[in-house]
Amino acid sequence: MSIVKINALTVPAEQREVLEQRFASRAGAVEGSDGFEWFELLRPVEGTDQYLVYTRWRSEEDFQAWMEGPMKAAHQGGGGGGERPKPAASGSSVWSFEVVQQAAPKPQG
Ligand code: HEM
Repeated sequence: MSIVKINALTVPAEQREVLEQRFASRAGAVEGSDGFEWFELLRPVEGTDQYLVYTRWRSEEDFQAWMEGPMKAAHQGGGGGGERPKPAASGSSVWSFEVVQQAAPKPQG
């Protein structure tokens, strides 16, 4: 079964807009990475102040391969060096999970 990697971002209130804007103009490269299955940027509503970057992968190896290559590019603002804007997040930690069960809606009709 798949694995889930969540990057939990601590974002000061006045930086939320900046963070969401940065994701709105993200590289979009992860979609083409081998073994990539899903991405969501989750905005906190209740119970936490952390934004979650939810990613789901076919295997740990696929995630590691993305981390070593495409992720670095995707986190350099697309410019590959040069002026990197100050990060919107003041902290981050990566959480790892294995998918134990899953369900999707039954096809209708
Ligand atoms: C040092 C910790 C990290 C911080 C502060 C951070 C923050 C960000 C920000 C602000 C963006 C928007 C694009 C940009 O401005 O560069 C981004 C893109 C992204 N981040 Fe992170 N990130 C970190 C590490 C990670 C990790 C470990 C993962 C994996 C769970 C991850 C998953 C993603 C994905 C999937 C994208 C979109 C890339 C694309 O469109 O190709 N990030 N991240």
